[in-house]
Amino acid sequence: MIPRVLFVAAEAIPLAKTGGLGDVVTALARAVHDRGVEATVLIPGYPQALEKAQALRPVATLDDIPGGPVQLLHGTMPDCDVPVVLVRNDLLFAREGGPYQDPHGHEFGDNAIRFGALCHAASVLALGETRLNAPDVLHAHDWHAALSPLLMQQRALRTGKTAVTSVTTIHNLAFQGNFPLHFAGALGIEPRFMDGVEFWGQLSFLKAGLAYSSRITTVSHSYEEEILTPRFGCGLEGLLGARRDVLSSVANGIDTDTWNPATDQLIPARYTPSDLKGKVASKRGLQQLFGLTVDPFAPVIAQGSRLTGQKMADVAIDALEMILAEHPRVQFVALGSGDADLERRYHEFAARHPGRVGVIIGYDERTAHVLHAGADILLHGSRFEPFGLTPVYSMRYGTVPIASRVGGLIDTITDHGPNKTPVAGATGFLFDGDRPQDMADAIWRALHAFEQPRTWRKMQRDGMLGDHGWRASAEQYIDLYREMTEGSGRGRFKVAAPIDVVLPATATSSEKKRA
Ligand code: ADP
Ligand code: GLC
Repeated sequence: MIPRVLFVAAEAIPLAKTGGLGDVVTALARAVHDRGVEATVLIPGYPQALEKAQALRPVATLDDIPGGPVQLLHGTMPDCDVPVVLVRNDLLFAREGGPYQDPHGHEFGDNAIRFGALCHAASVLALGETRLNAPDVLHAHDWHAALSPLLMQQRALRTGKTAVTSVTTIHNLAFQGNFPLHFAGALGIEPRFMDGVEFWGQLSFLKAGLAYSSRITTVSHSYEEEILTPRFGCGLEGLLGARRDVLSSVANGIDTDTWNPATDQLIPARYTPSDLKGKVASKRGLQQLFGLTVDPFAPVIAQGSRLTGQKMADVAIDALEMILAEHPRVQFVALGSGDADLERRYHEFAARHPGRVGVIIGYDERTAHVLHAGADILLHGSRFEPFGLTPVYSMRYGTVPIASRVGGLIDTITDHGPNKTPVAGATGFLFDGDRPQDMADAIWRALHAFEQPRTWRKMQRDGMLGDHGWRASAEQYIDLYREMTEGSGRGRFKVAAPIDVVLPATATSSEKKRA
């Protein structure tokens, strides 16, 4: 039996995206869909999603949902035939700003209710209470969806229906959806389920997903190991350790059609691993777009990520100041948005170095493609990185990454090594630490290698030829879904027992002790 899967998430490109989550939800849904899995994506009905989804038609109205009644609209993704269901409640989702924040960058005060509504809708769909086919697997992505396994089990116990098996995928453990406990009432969480959501005196969406899902996955092997430690576990390492037997990882892939320098219409000129002429033209285009001096021989370092502490955006400016002071030619471009203070500092940084530093604050898909194509080096510092799509995009475009030795970056980038001659198959530069000097040392290593054209070409080519598509990962997810549904018949499962059985006692009591 090929399982039917309901993906629940806050983002799915091109309907909604603020980061890698949106890329991965759609690309994975499409990859498993292409291999015969009936995958449906459930996301909130943001205005842009309502506009872009195709052939939408109402399939249900649900009255008993936090924040008010919602309409479920069924349609398909615009660029592929993956089915999508949008949860429409305009008071909750038709707002100015992004999926989580208002136009000034402030989190919406009722995000618990907004994503609680998404999770309630997921639980109704999972129990087959609409005219859409019930899934065999409920697949929740990140905290926004992570209350769904709990709500499904709670609803199943209440209605006598049988819950389906569920998996929660951690794309980023640092974002947990923690809210004041008093939201439990508005979210309809019954007292007997509270142990699984209570986290240091707060209500945690992500903890609920980790406690109530049949399986937990994350998006790289190294991150799977890291999140079991206090340094990267964000307080949830105890619970994750207790559920170690159901925790696994499946590495992300990238959409190799969208990110393909041989066919990309968003970049100045196309190119392939064996003919990089188009990359030279793309570099010129990038220098012009960012207001840099057009110089084909200047090494161009680029940064294209959220301007936040996770991405070491604070460290990068200081590291680059050191490099710019000593290297006569190096140039730097940054595309990003995030912390208001960092945005201001990046503007000031560009103003201090006209012609050598160019900054575009904002979020723009086309500029991101031009950046990956036109740069020589991608700078991607991270204090933690579950996977890190951006350096993989850069490698595909022959742009050599410098990245932190954490999480998925360890798995996707082969470090050049300390010697003049790179190790076999090297594709980038990894560094430890989060001081400007740590990053600057790695930049120097890259700049020295850049001066060796043959070495550099080889690193570019090896990066471009790496297999980062979804094939292998999609197959691993399908195996996981099969394992989860084996012997169950068409997705019918016994309701999992309440929390004291699902969540090992050790995890809750140790957390209580610490709290
Ligand atoms: P994260 O999800 O932690 O932000 P990833 O590197 O996995 O990190 O994914 C980031 C995604 O968001 C990539 O697709 C990247 O191109 C995109 N992105 C980030 N910032 C911007 C921006 N300012 N403009 C366009 N795309 C961006
Ligand atoms: C998160 C992580 C990033 C990962 C992405 C997709 O946003 O920060 O590392 O690539 O999710 O899984």
